[in-house]
Amino acid sequence: MTISSTQKRIISLLADGQFHSGTELADDLSISRSAVWKQLQGLNGWGLQYSAVSGKGYRLDHPLELLMEEKIKAVISDQVGALISSFEIYDQIDSTNRYLVECSQNNAPSGSVCFAEYQTAGKGRRGRQWVSPYGSNIYLSILWRFQQGPAAISGLSLAVGVAVIRALKQHQVNDIGLKWPNDIYSQGKKLGGILVEVSGETDGPCCAVIGLGLNLFMPEADAENITQAWTDLSKVTGQTLLIRNHLAGSLLNQLLPVIGEYEGIGIQTYLDEWRSYDCLFGKVATLFIGQQQFDGIVQGIDANGMLLIERPDGSVQTFASGEVSFNSSVPS
Ligand code: BTN
Repeated sequence: MTISSTQKRIISLLADGQFHSGTELADDLSISRSAVWKQLQGLNGWGLQYSAVSGKGYRLDHPLELLMEEKIKAVISDQVGALISSFEIYDQIDSTNRYLVECSQNNAPSGSVCFAEYQTAGKGRRGRQWVSPYGSNIYLSILWRFQQGPAAISGLSLAVGVAVIRALKQHQVNDIGLKWPNDIYSQGKKLGGILVEVSGETDGPCCAVIGLGLNLFMPEADAENITQAWTDLSKVTGQTLLIRNHLAGSLLNQLLPVIGEYEGIGIQTYLDEWRSYDCLFGKVATLFIGQQQFDGIVQGIDANGMLLIERPDGSVQTFASGEVSFNSSVPS
């Protein structure tokens, strides 16, 4: 079921988190009070929790700042604006990554940018679902084309992680780090994730869709579907955040130049900074690759962004892929 324009208007009216009476909403929307009630009932399905209190009216349990193109663009520098070829915000979509992969097959150019308020089939790494309730987090995908083949951009997702940390630091979010290869972590829990989907020939050119999911405020009811230890920015900062548009603009300011310049400069430029955010370094951990598991002490990343693990026999092994768990015996 899609979000109707009436429901979108109700959400906009309730976004301030204050009580609004049924009569007020009905008058604003030129519909009956029972029609308001009916429309509101559909909101729970998108992760929007609200309270109805007699004598007061309706209130969203958590205020929202809906994404607005002009507010995001107001934050973007001219230089970054010039890198954007298309800019879309979907109220509802299956997956911003899936959508841009489809656009890439229809020759969409570099710099296609897509945000969504709500994803019905958000994709995480390793076939996981990315829990994407309405209006509370960031779901962003960027399409970029490269002259060379996939091997030339193998470390891109690490560089993207650095760009995300830079943007968060601009918003005074400092208690954050990166968990190889590209999870955004805070206090041992996942705050965000990056999914890079690459298509193209081995010899190039290739096309990447870079997807970022960042938890700003995750309603507990939706969190029940998350299979990893998670956190969100409201927990990390202790603030009820209403900075989605500003943060979305800051993310684009940091991400687009990193992605656009990556082919020319590669991972080397980002290695030291990535290492400074490495929250696995020195930890006893287990790397899972399919059915195999490798225990040891994480020794950071090598010059190509690959994971180094010191094994119990003292040897250091290099890994290009896998899932690291450092606080349990199964992949988190
Ligand atoms: C991960 O599992 O860590 C990667 C999560 C990536 C989620 C984002 S949300 C925006 C974009 N669209 C998707 O369907 N997935 C990515």
